[in-house]
Amino acid sequence: MGFRSLVAGCGAYLPLRVMTNDDLAARLDTSDEWIRQRTGIGERRIAAPGELTSDLAVAAARRALDDAGMSGSDLDLIVLATATPDHTFPATATKVQARLGMTRGAAFDVQAVCSGFIFALAVADNALRLGQARTALVIGAETFSRILDWQDRGTCVLFGDGAGALVLNAAPDAGAGDRGVLATRLHSDGRQHDILYVDGGPSSTGTAGFLRMEGREVFRQAVQHLAEVVDEVLAANGYGAADLDWLVPHQANSRIIDAIGKRLGLPPERIVSTIARHANTSAASIPLALAEAAGDGRIVPGDLVLLEALGGGLSWGAALVRW
Ligand code: UT7
Repeated sequence: MGFRSLVAGCGAYLPLRVMTNDDLAARLDTSDEWIRQRTGIGERRIAAPGELTSDLAVAAARRALDDAGMSGSDLDLIVLATATPDHTFPATATKVQARLGMTRGAAFDVQAVCSGFIFALAVADNALRLGQARTALVIGAETFSRILDWQDRGTCVLFGDGAGALVLNAAPDAGAGDRGVLATRLHSDGRQHDILYVDGGPSSTGTAGFLRMEGREVFRQAVQHLAEVVDEVLAANGYGAADLDWLVPHQANSRIIDAIGKRLGLPPERIVSTIARHANTSAASIPLALAEAAGDGRIVPGDLVLLEALGGGLSWGAALVRW
């Protein structure tokens, strides 16, 4: 018997401290006008000293479990997407597992940077489809503020901290109809490693390092690859863009989001955008946006939702979900 992954709940958490564009302009050669015009970002949240990726992840996970009417003991899988783990090892997911009171199953991290949530969702979905787990928590959680070069105006203005989580429940395929995770598609191109990377790490420098990016080239490749992968994931189930209720994209740049929305022929009110308030939270951006739109009643059961993201690697992917 095959299984389908149905969405049971979602939740998110943002650190309390708000950093505005004007806060950045007070200590860097930048301006609110430049940041808004080039990226759509108005402000971002920054984790407090001592507030770790696992803390954000646990807060988001608790809200997602509440939304699903479940507790940690109902889970048998946690897949946590992060590029900013608490420690080199063990996986941040295992800390989250312990704090949620989950004592069975497996918990591990997935690392695909900004596309991490799509990769984690695909991994969890595959496990549920195969009957390897019954109830999974998929988390995207990041503290990018810890790997930013705060002297580099080309990167430090772009990112923020946060976490989001989705609970998936396996249901027999036969009774699932057209609901749940319908398709996922993943891609990477390691030849593009050097256009978006961190210049440190345990094996290379022994330091955590800082994020480095050739923004213009990443932008160009993002629009191209995302346009291809959204078509691919729609076609996997015989859908077209006209069938979509919502696009919930990774929030890297409002101009990238607009380009993909335009290509799909979606009006702006069908696109969930949080970039103005969250900036780019890497693997957390999609579940943060999902939790917001499901929480305020925009996304309702039965809606067809397209998720897409691209990040360092390069790695990119898309998922089609019937809520
Ligand atoms: O989530 C992972 C995936 N990441 C992305 O998808 C990010 C993709 N890239 C981008 O979003 C954009 O390329 C950026 C927002 C990073 C940059 O925007 P851009 O329109 O590509 O600008 P640019 O890098 O070509 O820079 C244009 C100018 C430069 O000045 P000159 O050389 O024309 O004099 C930069 O030095 O803007 C300057 N600049 C800034 N000015 C004020 C760069 N950063 C800033 C800044 N404030 N913060």
